[in-house]
Amino acid sequence: MPTTSSVILALGLLCAGAGVANAGTFSFPLKNGFPFPSERALEELFVRAGGNFTNHPPAVKFDDDSLTSWKLKTFNEFMEVAFFTQLIANITDRVLGYELDPEEEPYILSTLKAIQAVRRLPINSRVMTQEEMHAYNANDAVRFFSGGRHIYPCTYDFPVSDFASAIAFAQTFTDMYIGLLIDIQWHTGEHLGSDGSPPILYVLGQALGQEGQQSGWFRSLQGKPPSAEPFLTASTREFAFSWLQRWVVPGTCPNATGTGAESDIPLPILPRLDVVGEVRRTGRLTLRAPGPVDPDTMRVAYVNGALMPTVLPFEVSHVSRSCGVGERTGKFQMPLWCDDEDVVSTITVDFPFENNVMHGLTLAAVVTNGPTFMVPADVSKATVYGPAVIEVA
Ligand SMILES: *[C@@H]1O[C@H](CO)[C@@H](O)[C@H](O)[C@H]1NC(C)=O
Ligand SMILES: *[C@@H]1O[C@H](CO)[C@@H](O)[C@H](O)[C@H]1NC(C)=O
Ligand SMILES: *[C@@H]1O[C@H](CO)[C@@H](O)[C@H](O)[C@H]1NC(C)=O
Repeated sequence: MPTTSSVILALGLLCAGAGVANAGTFSFPLKNGFPFPSERALEELFVRAGGNFTNHPPAVKFDDDSLTSWKLKTFNEFMEVAFFTQLIANITDRVLGYELDPEEEPYILSTLKAIQAVRRLPINSRVMTQEEMHAYNANDAVRFFSGGRHIYPCTYDFPVSDFASAIAFAQTFTDMYIGLLIDIQWHTGEHLGSDGSPPILYVLGQALGQEGQQSGWFRSLQGKPPSAEPFLTASTREFAFSWLQRWVVPGTCPNATGTGAESDIPLPILPRLDVVGEVRRTGRLTLRAPGPVDPDTMRVAYVNGALMPTVLPFEVSHVSRSCGVGERTGKFQMPLWCDDEDVVSTITVDFPFENNVMHGLTLAAVVTNGPTFMVPADVSKATVYGPAVIEVA
């Protein structure tokens, strides 16, 4: 978890490094030409991934909202392909922190089978090629329904520097993606109805189960039970799109150049919310928002598992802002002014882990308080800062 100084450092790097590829960043294309592989490379991909593309005809019914979902799905899958490609290279090249020595990795020691799965690259590269197929397939749908236009990948910068942090991060982004697919199913059902949605729900169900298998494997590698909770946490497209911005080098995404309607992926990018320090089960959670907060009109909402979102009051523990004294006009000294753009608010809030039984993915957001939040979409619509992404057990 980031400390104050590492956050400041990261911010500094973001400003200095915009658009510049750092040593740890990753850009496409892959050796096989992906995201635009040749027919021949595609066939090889099927074999390596262990299954063909669908030979079903394209969906008969689609709309702009569905196109937004599939553009975002492609955007997300590109990030996953980039990550697994880089992870495999780090392991293969025995990068410092990625040497899979059992003595260095106690949790690997405890499960020989898992070590072998990791060491035997075909399994790892199978995860990767499956993601390549998901991405290619999603972009194919975008092409088909948007007159031949593609989604292009970005340059990525992942917050990991060893095998353990890489696997923990893989679990988190896979859980986030599972949450997104649940929301895409919801949108599909709502927009395409009973005559149009079944074939798309069918394909989404196939992808959802597959991502669940992957997340279970990442959890096992960390010594956690493969399945986190009876009903997995759902997310929203807005939460997914906003959170993914953290792992791209600013200015490198051709299709995410604006926010909302100005972007090729017409979804908002919400202001971030960060967890400060470590999250211990039940207790106070500290969150940091890059702007002002109002504990009278705002709340923290948690999304986890099958429960309706939990909404709790928070306390402001610290507000930092750059303030100055206004100019003197005549004999009057203008009052102190404070720049709201530079405000950073730190808040604390209860984290009801035991009471709610919050295993697996939890999404937290600072929201404008309102009527009962029923589903994650109610939370993301009311979000002022978020999501903060938490995985405890
Ligand atoms: C690969 O290793 C580099 C160098 O340590 C690191 O910057 C990068 O985040 C790693 N990527 C993955 C996916 O593990
Ligand atoms: C499955 O993929 C292989 C490899 O690309 C291809 O030769 C075969 O024709 C495909 N089968 C079907 C039924 O599409
Ligand atoms: C993505 O961005 C590229 C470059 O601006 C553009 O050519 C392409 O049409 C965009 N794709 C979509 C689906 O809008």
